[in-house]
Amino acid sequence: MGQDVLDYFLHALGALFRMRRIYPPGTKQVLQSARQASQKLTAWGRPVRITFLGNDTIVEDRRIENIPMSYRALFQSLQQLGLESVQIEADAREDELTAWIETVVSKERLPYRGSKIVTGSLKLERRAEPRSVLTRAVTGYLGFLAEAQEVLSDLESRKSEGLVRAREVVCAIVARLAVGRELFEPIREMKNFDDYTFTHALNVCVLSSALARALRLSDEMVNTIAMAALCHDLGKKEVPKEILNHNGPLEPKKWLLIERHPSCGARLLLDIPGVESANPLLPVVAYQHHMGADQSGYPKVQRHLPQHTLHFASLLIAVADVYDALRTIRPYRQALTVAKAATILIRDALSGKLHKEYVSSFLLLLNVLAAGRRVVLSDGSCGMIVETHTGYPLCPMVGDEHGRIRDLSAPSSPTIWEVVEDSTDDPQ
Ligand SMILES: [Fe+2]
Ligand SMILES: [Fe+2]
Repeated sequence: MGQDVLDYFLHALGALFRMRRIYPPGTKQVLQSARQASQKLTAWGRPVRITFLGNDTIVEDRRIENIPMSYRALFQSLQQLGLESVQIEADAREDELTAWIETVVSKERLPYRGSKIVTGSLKLERRAEPRSVLTRAVTGYLGFLAEAQEVLSDLESRKSEGLVRAREVVCAIVARLAVGRELFEPIREMKNFDDYTFTHALNVCVLSSALARALRLSDEMVNTIAMAALCHDLGKKEVPKEILNHNGPLEPKKWLLIERHPSCGARLLLDIPGVESANPLLPVVAYQHHMGADQSGYPKVQRHLPQHTLHFASLLIAVADVYDALRTIRPYRQALTVAKAATILIRDALSGKLHKEYVSSFLLLLNVLAAGRRVVLSDGSCGMIVETHTGYPLCPMVGDEHGRIRDLSAPSSPTIWEVVEDSTDDPQ
């Protein structure tokens, strides 16, 4: 679809905003502009994502140098309201566009949460890099996000062309990771992006691919894992949004619906013609990613499976999955800091829920367990990592408060119990 079709929609949206500022709601001029905007959106046929990053405006993955007059006033109003992201679904109708524009005209600062339009902030955490670097990274990320969204929508509708596109997208992601860590930046920075389903899928894909590369798996396996990671939560489509975004503890009945998403995802993927030849790992990972290395998770199988029955890709992706979930703001809790998320990964690794070696490699990849990091040990003492053993990063050499150097890889040594916050954190 040509870029001009998207431009026509933005012009029409700008016109709706102008009309509504001139005329009262419900007047012929406003209704007509809304109808035109809706028609242009239907012609575009895809979601529209607008992002404001400082002085930069990004539509989809395109940075707009000179915002056309026809929608400049609308974009300026959105920025003045402090909104950093706007996502409009492809099937947003005229009444939904009108309802949202109404909030912009009345200078409503609260994020808008409609069923087809969502606005919000990106909650950028750190701005250490020059803005241009971050803009470039976010622009690249948003391009992949739009692709991921389309691929996952195709797969949700059981279209086999989604498999071909999924492979193309993950190959591009893995190729980008091979030349630098730019894709890591938005994952670190954007803690409250509007669409958790797709950002989570993309983040887990990027983090799992990076972990698979760090483990020196073959290029083919890295791509296969990346694709499985992208599709790991496809079964959440079957869980009502109110349950996924529920604020507070869930009743057991509702929790059961969440626990069904791995089997729903596997079934959905198996229904796609050609999935097994395209990537046999897709249904396996969708089914196993919450089972846990010790099989304490879900779905429960009738009898405990023999050890090593879970595919290693499921265990690898589970580490990235847990980490990304902890690092993202959810309706029911704040995003955890890197140190807190790392602490949970370590405890889960030590308890057997997560695969120890994958957690180790992941924390090394994120540079969390480097020399200089302060830690609390399981015997209550505090210390600082002075050196990590190659291959055993979870059991480093730690200098304690009495000046002793303790080798945590020695038998009956304490373990790391907590990773302490560090103001110089640069974990990803
Ligand atoms: Fe999941
Ligand atoms: Fe997940």
